Amino acid sequence: MNQDQLKQMVGEAARDEVLKLAAGQILGVGTGSTANCFIDALAPYKDHFAGTVSSSNATTERLLKHGFQVLDPNDVTELPAYVDGADEIDPAGHMIKGGGGALTREKIIASMARQFICICDSSKQVPVLGNFALPVEIIPLAKGVVSRELEKFGGKVTLRLAKNTRADLNQTPSEPFVTDNGGWILDVAGLKIADPIQMEAQINQIAGVITVGLFAKEKANILLVSNSSGVERLLL
Ligand code: A5P
Repeated sequence: MNQDQLKQMVGEAARDEVLKLAAGQILGVGTGSTANCFIDALAPYKDHFAGTVSSSNATTERLLKHGFQVLDPNDVTELPAYVDGADEIDPAGHMIKGGGGALTREKIIASMARQFICICDSSKQVPVLGNFALPVEIIPLAKGVVSRELEKFGGKVTLRLAKNTRADLNQTPSEPFVTDNGGWILDVAGLKIADPIQMEAQINQIAGVITVGLFAKEKANILLVSNSSGVERLLL
């Protein structure tokens, strides 16, 4: 079974999970290739929900294409669940997210939801977070000072560059990747995150940081994880 099939399988399991929620509520929807599988699987059942709140422009576009209603988070007070993927998840449900650059809106929507349902294949499960470079969204003018502060955690800090920028000129991409919020992303490689709650709080304190892609306070409550023998459901 390849990774696309594993993503599709867990997307379908997440559809079955959210269809257990009472009808007529609003659902939080994440970003990424696994979240896309979930959106596609849920599309035939969209009328079960009164609407959705979306964690990125890309997700909004996909939801609208399927005919889901997408609401402004400012108009929503109750979210029973938020469904999203992860770049890494530890046994307690702490996650690294932001590989796709949507970490800030993902964390906002996750903070509004009663339950975070994380969906991934088993390659994302790790004993300790940090193999995947930790994304940190920043205010662009703070790149220098935030980079120096992040280096103190012991990792290697790199400014994320846009993919395919100037592809027509056959050049190496050289422009910063810009998030939906106009921020830039610093990726911190080589960390061993023994205490995700503490590190999340410390990085949040650095002036110029918009969001760190450590989801420790907003950790997963339910994990649906696929492998070649099926989907496992874990309560965290
Ligand atoms: C988006 O910014 C990320 O947080 C994604 O949710 C995460 O990277 C998982 O993406 P995939 O499902 O594409 O692996």
